[in-house]
Amino acid sequence: MQVFKKINPLRDEIKKEKESGQKIGFVPTMGYLHDGHLALLKEARAENDVVVLSIFVNPTQFGPDEDLEEYPRNIERDLELAKKAGCDLVFTPEVDEIYSPQAVTKVIVEDLTNKLCGGLRDGHFSGVCTIVTKLFNITLPDRAYFGQKDAQQVLVIKRLVKDLNLDLEIKTVDIVRESDGLAISSRNKYLNPQERQAAPILFKTLNLAKELIKKGERDAKVIKERMTEKINNESLAKIDYVEIVKQSNLEKIEQIRGKILIALAVYIGETRLIDNLMMEV
Ligand code: PAJ
Repeated sequence: MQVFKKINPLRDEIKKEKESGQKIGFVPTMGYLHDGHLALLKEARAENDVVVLSIFVNPTQFGPDEDLEEYPRNIERDLELAKKAGCDLVFTPEVDEIYSPQAVTKVIVEDLTNKLCGGLRDGHFSGVCTIVTKLFNITLPDRAYFGQKDAQQVLVIKRLVKDLNLDLEIKTVDIVRESDGLAISSRNKYLNPQERQAAPILFKTLNLAKELIKKGERDAKVIKERMTEKINNESLAKIDYVEIVKQSNLEKIEQIRGKILIALAVYIGETRLIDNLMMEV
């Protein structure tokens, strides 16, 4: 496994591989690798000749009051896990290798990014879209892997690839969970023991919605009310949003029908967690 901190030597290596017909699978991450990231790497390993992993805590996707400074980092451990997962090339740039102070270009996907997390995290998706576009241009992948955990991110990146005619395929991987249902996330590290015990409330609430729908409830308002009530009964939890939207465009729906996405963001103490469930009714 080779580790690169600079763009040009990495891109030269990848170009060489591509010239000899090798297919490149790319997994972008912000590091502090966990089983969710490892699931993406496993898929990438199975489907490509060369697996490229990036580890970069991207400052432009964090808001001014968010956790950029505290975001967990452990590069030595990440590199060990990457090696075990069969990565070939790892990109671990410093911020100044990626962002020149003169840069004035941003990638903005409109509309889809005003909803759910995007509506509440100003500039977040423009930061994500800009870094992901740059990383695609650096790593020249045939396939790139994203987790369903960030359902809106997947949709936004797919749209970006389509709108900008990028020549790669976006592959998605199901949410990996702890045994009690909590979706694995680097931010789970912030939870104290009591908060950790409370955190599966997100998954339990999604399951409540699923059960209601299975029993025939079709009024989104009723389902959201029941979900809200359940979360509010957990004293450590505070709702950021609870939404039921159409998978295709993230528009809110009133009646449950077709391909839907039930998504929520909940603070457990100070930590903001997200989770979601896709259903076809
Ligand atoms: P990060 O949060 O490190 O996540 C990297 C990838 O791992 C994302 O595609 C995310 O959806 C996926 N992932 C995280 N937890 C998962 C889980 N429990 N199950 C399945 N997949 C999971 O997402 C980002 O980084 C950044 O926004 C990035 C795309 C790297 C751009 O900076």
